[in-house]
Amino acid sequence: MREATAPAAAAAENPYQPHRAKLVKLEPFTADTALLRLEFLDRERGERFTYRPGQFIQVSALGTGEAPISLCSSPTRPGYLEICVRRVGRVTQALHRLSPGALVGVRGPYGNGFPVEKMRGKDLLLIAGGLGMAPLRSLLWYALDRRGDFGRVTLLYGARTPRDVLFRGELQELENRSDVRILITVDRNEEGGWPGRVGVVTTLFEGLEVDSARTVAVICVPPVAFKFVVPKLLERNFKGEQILMSLERKMQCGIGKCGNCNVGSKHTCLDGPVFTYWDAMNVPGMI
Ligand SMILES: Cc1cc2nc3c(=O)[nH]c(=O)nc-3n(C[C@H](O)[C@H](O)[C@H](O)COP(=O)(O)OP(=O)(O)OC[C@H]3O[C@@H](n4cnc5c(N)ncnc54)[C@H](O)[C@@H]3O)c2cc1C
Ligand code: FES
Repeated sequence: MREATAPAAAAAENPYQPHRAKLVKLEPFTADTALLRLEFLDRERGERFTYRPGQFIQVSALGTGEAPISLCSSPTRPGYLEICVRRVGRVTQALHRLSPGALVGVRGPYGNGFPVEKMRGKDLLLIAGGLGMAPLRSLLWYALDRRGDFGRVTLLYGARTPRDVLFRGELQELENRSDVRILITVDRNEEGGWPGRVGVVTTLFEGLEVDSARTVAVICVPPVAFKFVVPKLLERNFKGEQILMSLERKMQCGIGKCGNCNVGSKHTCLDGPVFTYWDAMNVPGMI
């Protein structure tokens, strides 16, 4: 009995061991981005798997490799995991080629995630650009599912074109709710037909009322956009500790061993990917 269970126990403790999960839904959002819903084959593992918004998993396309991908589902909705994957290279292309029923590997969750306990009672100002909407969608649903725990919730989201707006259907539904403000803009509307705002994400700050004293701002935008978004917050008297940013680095192990994601003394996979603006300013090279 002992001999039979020991290897299984050792395998369960191996942090590099991915666990099998079934793709139950693949929903294309844009030309290169799709939502994937996964369920662990081992139901017990699925029930035990808890995470925070802002954490990521290592997802493997079997026989190809693995990639770090943010969870875009909320832990308030257990039983499945959702990820939003942009096709850029080998692993992400392989994930896009899968059909429902296919198996993938999952290990994690990794990273610190958003400090949701400390954010309780505060107003939330979420600022997303492009694929940055994925981790913020997790936080948005977390706050909406625990609505009493948070004050005013506002999402500012910028996409390149109307075709690039992720989660468009559900965000349009949320626009009708009175307990959340959803403001979306697109950089360009060359094909016409977009009824909303046109301009970069910072244009959504125009006329926006925010009580900075009681608000936590969370930024998930492409690196180039940080230098435009952060000043909008600083000029509204946000302090460095009230601004959270999710940063991406190339990662491999996800568990602080390989050093691939290091910036100064920080392992982005362990100490991040969520940092305060204060941290980011004090670690050269972080932004
Ligand atoms: C914490 C974290 C969360 C992430 N969340 C998501 C997510 O929710 N959805 C999503 O689609 N992607 C996400 N990514 C990016 C994703 O991990 C990479 O796009 C993926 O690893 C590319 O793997 P690949 O084999 O498909 O491409 P590769 O063949 O490895 O590379 C293709 C191209 O992508 C570039 N690339 C690879 N990894 C990264 C990276 N981490 N950052 C920037 N460029 C990279 C390569 O330099 C190359 O130009 C996240 C990355 C991190 C670190
Ligand atoms: S990815 Fe290996 S140390 Fe962070």
